[in-house]
Amino acid sequence: MSYIPTEVQCRKLWQKYNMPEEKKRHLEMVAKITDILVRELRIKNEELRINGKLLFAAALLHDIDKNAEKLPGERHPDTAVRILMEEGMPDVAEVVKSHSLHTIVDPKLSPKTWEEKILFLADKMVKIDFIGVDERFNLWNAEHLPIDAQNTLDLAYPKVKHLEHEVLESLNINSDDFVKYIQKCILNQSKE
Ligand SMILES: [Fe+2]
Ligand SMILES: [Fe+2]
Repeated sequence: MSYIPTEVQCRKLWQKYNMPEEKKRHLEMVAKITDILVRELRIKNEELRINGKLLFAAALLHDIDKNAEKLPGERHPDTAVRILMEEGMPDVAEVVKSHSLHTIVDPKLSPKTWEEKILFLADKMVKIDFIGVDERFNLWNAEHLPIDAQNTLDLAYPKVKHLEHEVLESLNINSDDFVKYIQKCILNQSKE
């Protein structure tokens, strides 16, 4: 049986799989951004069908493998996908599967559904706090990654920007305003 866990159940899984404190903050912020994007997208486009509950759980669990033991040949997020399958959540696993940076450069792995796209994008806008896609890539570039990782980063950037553009178009807002727009939504949400 497949189920979508509640926030409380997601937090129990954080405990079970030893989620580091910093990573919890990342997961909370990514979940918050996905929630904002879903709400705003629904306002702008009533026909849009997004499973908000599924996306929220996937956002809270997408890096569940941070401290988990990896099986031979597994790379992130394979371990997360396996754990979520073992926990009886294949639908959540499916959304989590395509969130890592490298997936977007492979048409077979890249995010396709709205849930997958929103999770992917929100994850690339957040380190621990919300910083936006460009600042996130600046920080990665400053890490002087190994050549393979740098190549993936360079190939991924235009594709992530393309995805960002797709979301921006659906939201009917200007790309220069996107970071400010989300920051304002975060602020408004904390006042609610
Ligand atoms: Fe990840
Ligand atoms: Fe992440």
